[in-house]
Amino acid sequence: MPSTVAPSGGSKTQPADDQFNWQQQWYPLAPVSYLDRAKPTPYTVLGRRLVVWYHAPSQQWRALEDRWPHRLVPLSEGRIEPGSGNLQCSYHGWQFGGDGRCARIPQADSPQQEAAACGSQRSCVAAFPVRQEQGMLWVWMEAGPGAAAASQLRPLPLPAELLSSGGDGATPAGSLLGGWYQRELPLSAEYLLENLLDPSHIHFAHSGVIGSPSRAGSIPLHLAGPLTSQGGFQLHMDRQWQGRAGRQGGRGQQQAREIPGLVDVGEAAPAGGSGSVPAVTRFVPPGLVCPGTSRVFTAFFATGLPPVLQSALRSDALAPLLHAFQFLADLGAHQVIDGDAVHIHQQERTVRQEGRRSYFMPAAADRGVMLLHRWLDEYAGGGPQYFPGPGAASSGMGAAASKPLSRQEVLDRYEQHTKHCPSCRQALSSVRSLRQALQLGSASAAAAFAVTVAQALATGPCLVLAPPCASLSLPLVLGVAGLLAGGAQQALGRLERQFVFVDYVHADRK
Ligand code: FES
Ligand SMILES: [Fe+2]
Repeated sequence: MPSTVAPSGGSKTQPADDQFNWQQQWYPLAPVSYLDRAKPTPYTVLGRRLVVWYHAPSQQWRALEDRWPHRLVPLSEGRIEPGSGNLQCSYHGWQFGGDGRCARIPQADSPQQEAAACGSQRSCVAAFPVRQEQGMLWVWMEAGPGAAAASQLRPLPLPAELLSSGGDGATPAGSLLGGWYQRELPLSAEYLLENLLDPSHIHFAHSGVIGSPSRAGSIPLHLAGPLTSQGGFQLHMDRQWQGRAGRQGGRGQQQAREIPGLVDVGEAAPAGGSGSVPAVTRFVPPGLVCPGTSRVFTAFFATGLPPVLQSALRSDALAPLLHAFQFLADLGAHQVIDGDAVHIHQQERTVRQEGRRSYFMPAAADRGVMLLHRWLDEYAGGGPQYFPGPGAASSGMGAAASKPLSRQEVLDRYEQHTKHCPSCRQALSSVRSLRQALQLGSASAAAAFAVTVAQALATGPCLVLAPPCASLSLPLVLGVAGLLAGGAQQALGRLERQFVFVDYVHADRK
C-alpha cells in the first residue's frame, strides 16, 4: 500500500542503507515531444508537484517545485520571460532562474532590498536534476545540496541497449521505433507493476488484441539472481512465448531491475540476448504520480538492425514523419491499456477493503507478483513513498485512490492521453475538421439531390420511366456523392471516438 515519507531533510524516516530510497531515483517525467518550449507545464511525480520548463540560456529543461515562495501560487501558471529566459510568476512578476534562485522582484523598494531578498534561502524554490535521453525527460526526485552529484552517480533506468552515456560514450546499440506513448491512469503504481510482471494475463485480458485464450498455458517464471535493494530482481520465463496469430518469438524474458525505474519486458527476444539478430523489445518504465494515479510510458526499441536502418531510425529527417503518425501506434496502445484498466481499477478498490492476503496464487505464472511484493516489503517500505506536506500533490492523498470512478472516467482516453499528445491532438483536430466538411458536403448534396429530383419530376416522368434520359445523371451523381460523404462521415465519427472514449467489454472480445 502507498505510504508517505518526510520531505528531504526528515531524517527520522530516511531509509536505512540496505533499503531502496524512493527519492534518490531517476523517474520518467515526460516525452520531450509532449512539452512546449514556450510554456511551463505542471507534472506530478512521486506525489510532488513540479513545473517543467525550457531555460533557453542554458538550453536545458528544468524541473522546479510548482510553488512560488512569495504567496504559494503555482509556477506552472507563469510565463517565460523572453528577455532573460527566466520563469516569471504571472501573479506579481517575480522571476526565477533555472537553478530555482529568485532573480527579480519588481516590487522591491530598493536595489539593495531586491538583492538581499533574492539572496535569501526563503526566496528559492527546490530544483530537481533532470536529464534528457532517448526522447524522454528524466527527473531525480531529490532536491537540495548534493542532489546533482548523487544523481550523476546513478545511470538512467534505460535498458543497456539504449544508454549512450555513463559507459564508453558509444552510440547505443538499440534504436527507438517511433516515439513514446504516455497515459495517466487512475491506478496506484503497485497495481501497475503487478500487471507488468504478470505475463499470464495477456491471453485473456487482451484477447483478440495481442493475446488469444487458446494459446494460454503454464508460464514457469523463475527468479534469476538475488533480490537486492537497489537492483530489484530479474524474472526469467522458460517457455516459448506465443504471440497472436501464430507468431512465435524466442525464449521470453521479463526483468524488473531497479524498480521503480525499469520494468523491461522482452517480447520475441531471441534466445541468448539481442546480439546481431534483429529483435524488438517493449520498454515500460512506470511513472509514479501519487497514490491512486500512475503514468504509463511505453516505447519499442530495435536491436540487431542493419546499420542503414539504424541510422534511418535515428535520423532527424524521419522524426517529424514518425511523430505525425504516432497516433496510429497510440490508438493500438489504448486498446491494450483499456483491457487492463477496467480490471485493475476495481482490483485496487477491493484490495483496499480486504487486503492483499486474499490473493490465491498457486501457479508459477504468478511468481512475478509474489516477488514484487516480497521486494517491496523487504526493501522498499511496502510500496512507493510519496511526498507529503509542502509541494505535495494534494493534502488528501489516498482519498483519490479509494474514490470509485465510472467506466467513462477509468477509460477516458482524451483526458488521460489525447489532450497531452501532440500527434493525437493534431489527428483528432484533422478528423473533426474533415468530418464537419463532409457533414456540410453531404447535407448540400442531399438538398441539391432533392431539388434536382423535384425539378426532373416536374418537367416529366423520364426520371422514373426512362432511366437513360439525360436528366437522370445529375441527381444520380448527387445521390451517390451524398451517400459516400455520409458513409465517410460515419467512419470518421468512429475514428474520432477512438481518441476520446471506447468502452472495453471483455465479454465482447473472444
Ligand atoms: S505569488 Fe508569485 S510573485 Fe507573488
Ligand atoms: Fe497519442
